[in-house]
Amino acid sequence: MVKRATNDEPWRVGVLFSQTGVTAVIEETQLRGTILAIEEVNAAGGVNGRELVPVMYDPASNVRSFARYADRLLTEDGVSTIFGCYTSSSRKAVLPVVERRNGLLWYPTLYEGFEYSPNIIYTGAAPNQNSVELVDFLLESYGSRFYLIGSDYIYPRESNRIMRELLRQRRGEVVGEHYLDLRARPSEFRLLMRDVRNTGPDVIFSTVVGQATAYLYQAYADAGFDSRVMPIASLTTSEAEVKLMGADVACGHITAAPYFESVRTADNLSFVSRYKKRFGDDEPTNLCVEAAYFQVHVFAKALAEVNSMDPDVLRPIVLGSEFDAPQGRIMIDTESSHTNLWTRLGRANAAGQFEIVKESLWAVKPDPYLVSH
Ligand code: ACM
Repeated sequence: MVKRATNDEPWRVGVLFSQTGVTAVIEETQLRGTILAIEEVNAAGGVNGRELVPVMYDPASNVRSFARYADRLLTEDGVSTIFGCYTSSSRKAVLPVVERRNGLLWYPTLYEGFEYSPNIIYTGAAPNQNSVELVDFLLESYGSRFYLIGSDYIYPRESNRIMRELLRQRRGEVVGEHYLDLRARPSEFRLLMRDVRNTGPDVIFSTVVGQATAYLYQAYADAGFDSRVMPIASLTTSEAEVKLMGADVACGHITAAPYFESVRTADNLSFVSRYKKRFGDDEPTNLCVEAAYFQVHVFAKALAEVNSMDPDVLRPIVLGSEFDAPQGRIMIDTESSHTNLWTRLGRANAAGQFEIVKESLWAVKPDPYLVSH
């Protein structure tokens, strides 16, 4: 009798998002987006009848742990695909690991651009998909004097380099630039507000991330500044950070992102409702949840087509693939391994949501090296 060739072993995938430490506030939401998508794929029968099973570690917002766990996943755990990383420093630490071991990292976070790896699929925004539209809006609405405040690592420093360049091209100016440790305390932000007051900018551009985001906005509120006159603008202050600081503290400030919970498409209404049903009514979605969510579905569709986890087989199918994400239809760009994403500007309101004040008519092609600027 011929033995039937069956393989119902699960597809194992690595998941690396911090559940503790200074960026857990946002990384935990990326973990939830990943889990929701994995559960949806499995509820629909898995991929070619085989279940997706996550192998998860908590890198605890520690860059070295990201590299160590990535290596463990790709060697001891025998995994070849990893969904993970929020900070650019963690991605930069994982990059040589996935290149050496020929793994595939799916990175669901906006970042500073100027990077390409054949072993990374970038599903968050590059600067041409958020910063360019944001700077034009801010110059038009508030004025030309920008004060840059960031956490002290590569994403803020590089994003501010780009912001400075965009401002120079548009006759705006940087009137202050200051970096604080990712673990900075509230008192350091309160002190910084004195310099902001003395300098008198029209806009604060914040690249502060994680828990410290709440300290910055609270220090701003305590200093008595008015967001209608001099808002804080950001690419990372999402519904998750707003929830942490409180809607009253965030109200009036501006964020540029491909996605807000308030996007009014049928796909998004359904996504938000499924997310809340799974994780609780008081859990908002955000740009990082959404990217973490749709990238698993893009991966699962490609895997179904090739039935192989080999990155060299999977990757050509991923590139050029499209998906109806909650933000609208997206496409993985063939040239850059980045993603065509929507550009939106939101103003935080009293309900902790973003009122969308501007949005693109279609998904914008990524230009990670700002070649067209
Ligand atoms: C980031 O570090 N890319 C937010």
